[in-house]
Amino acid sequence: MTKPKVFVSRIIPEEGLAPIRAACEVEIWQDELPPPRDALLTAIEGCDGVLTLLTDKVDDEFLDRAGPQLKVVSNFAVGFDNVDVAACTKRGVAVGNTPGVLTETTADLAWTLLMAAARRITEGDRYVRDGKWKTWGPMLLMGPDVHGATLGIVGFGRIGQAMARRAKGFGMRVIYHDLQRASKAVEAEYDATYMTLDGLLPQADFVSLHVNLSPETKGLINAERLGWMKPTAILINTARGPVVDSMALVAALEAGTIAAAALDVTDPEPLPADHPLIGLDNCLVVPHIASASRVTRGKMASMAAANLLAGVRGKRLPTPVNPEIYG
Ligand code: GLV
Repeated sequence: MTKPKVFVSRIIPEEGLAPIRAACEVEIWQDELPPPRDALLTAIEGCDGVLTLLTDKVDDEFLDRAGPQLKVVSNFAVGFDNVDVAACTKRGVAVGNTPGVLTETTADLAWTLLMAAARRITEGDRYVRDGKWKTWGPMLLMGPDVHGATLGIVGFGRIGQAMARRAKGFGMRVIYHDLQRASKAVEAEYDATYMTLDGLLPQADFVSLHVNLSPETKGLINAERLGWMKPTAILINTARGPVVDSMALVAALEAGTIAAAALDVTDPEPLPADHPLIGLDNCLVVPHIASASRVTRGKMASMAAANLLAGVRGKRLPTPVNPEIYG
């Protein structure tokens, strides 16, 4: 029997590659950088399945070039804003993602950013490396307390709730905003109070973003909403870069409208080294690594492979984004 033909658009952990190699005729893009568009479109021609990353745009052009035999697009990420899901659904192409396995790891990183920005860790590290540490300074690098502060969570899904769990251990007050209010049981479990966004922003000492990127959330944190935040507040973004208006954030950080920001995701991404955000001491940036623990990336790889293999075999994906294709 001929094996299904698949393309994997980057080297992912072996937990995912091994089962794909065993079951498919596979081409794996070997470069550290994503395949350029032309190379991607050429590589997917005639494929039964494609394992994509969030750097690969899946749209009508992609689906046309792949051909009508394409059964599955398996995205190696929980987010899938790079995929035109409606276009896939229209053609009966299943789309998979990797929910659940990265929840705690992503919340760990969001918490790391929150702590690091509050206690000015990157500034302190630079201060020491620059040879500026001369004595114990009573006024040196002071920041806000984390314990007892108010955490505003925007997007109260799996990762937002994992943040609330961490906040409990620090004796924080948790307020949240989501399009859908959580059940009373969930609110009670996390001792979390629902608020409108304009109610939350003026009260939170830390605002942590956990929403999907959609037309509704693009630019959600804009100049006006940054203006509603406390001048002492810290913004943490581990969701998607375009949820925050980058140039409005630069202006807010420069003017002291808010105290600091800590970003795992940016707009644009990657952030060029000469971007104004990088020049600001009160902005901490890491390169979209929230799910990057060895164990979690292994689990994501294995889950993405399971989706890909189910799809090419004509079976229901374990974690489909568009289950409506199954009727
Ligand atoms: C990473 O950002 C993901 O969506 O998994």
